[in-house]
Amino acid sequence: MDAPEKGSYFVYDIPTFKLSLLVVRGQDEKVRVFHNICRHRGNKIIREGSGKKTVFTCNFHGWNFGIDGKLRNITDAKEFENCDPDQLGLIEVNSEIWNSFIFINLAEKPHCSLQEWLGPMFSQYNDYFEHQEKVASFKAVVHGNWHLAVNAFTEGYHTLYLHKSTARDYQGGKTNPDRHRPQIEIFDRHHRYSAPGNPDKIFVRGEKIAAKYGRLMIPAFDFNTEGLPPGINPSKNDKWAFDVVEFFPNMVMLIGNCWHNEITYWPLDEGKTLITNQAWAYKTKNLGERISRSYFRARVRDVFREDLNTIEAQHAALSSGVMKEVILSRQEMALRHHYKVTRLMMEGKL
Ligand code: FES
Ligand SMILES: [Fe+2]
Repeated sequence: MDAPEKGSYFVYDIPTFKLSLLVVRGQDEKVRVFHNICRHRGNKIIREGSGKKTVFTCNFHGWNFGIDGKLRNITDAKEFENCDPDQLGLIEVNSEIWNSFIFINLAEKPHCSLQEWLGPMFSQYNDYFEHQEKVASFKAVVHGNWHLAVNAFTEGYHTLYLHKSTARDYQGGKTNPDRHRPQIEIFDRHHRYSAPGNPDKIFVRGEKIAAKYGRLMIPAFDFNTEGLPPGINPSKNDKWAFDVVEFFPNMVMLIGNCWHNEITYWPLDEGKTLITNQAWAYKTKNLGERISRSYFRARVRDVFREDLNTIEAQHAALSSGVMKEVILSRQEMALRHHYKVTRLMMEGKL
């Protein structure tokens, strides 16, 4: 959670909708989400970043707002006629918390609760996410459609080809050479699959050192899943590597034994997508663990770059219009589901 204490705040811009949000934890510990716009003449109140405050002051004419969003002070108030400060607080956005995530709903009246939206996954992760810390984050604007960007992460057998040098033998092994997923689950709107680890993996020198001093993350995996909540490795596969969860429409999470990645996809236009990625992992206790964790973090970054590359190449090629349809295998059923949910949502049926 990026707003851990009373008064902690951060700015979250959503260029897709030309919005800027101000997320803040109040004195009552409640996290609220406001439009980051001054009620006087619409200035962006906090330009960017995060921090801790007791009050938000607009730098244009000095109006200020409490961390509960209420308008506290109108400067030169007697010059404003018929102005009711009680009606001029920051405009709040509907939000709900799930584990350490803040979900927003831009509708004035959400048509369902977050629990309904998440379905069976709602209660399956306990406090798993709270025990980890952020170890890396980055943003990239990719020249590709957001569907292609999401799709690049919701199927995994491409690791055999696309990631053959960065993660050569990190999945499958002798008993599963095609790297089939041991489990794919389709929910109403979302889906989740498990990736198979490789019990025959041969550790290269750097991996051996990293594995000696810290926990296994990626491209080698800790098969011991004892104590993990029910939503993680849901089929309890004994060669499990990690899960990939698509929260429709625009978030994908990779969830391993002691790490997870949070990826969001914000369309900028039909051919451009802002992708953000945050990597989280176990809290280290000593220098050895820190070095080990850094090694694995760098491996994730390299794999990720390869994924971004195909989004652009695929988008450019498909833009020719030469191909009327793409072909999807059973291993790609999550992609089929993504497009089915998109269609149903567009038709107002979901
Ligand atoms: S626009 Fe904010 S005080 Fe004027
Ligand atoms: Fe990939």
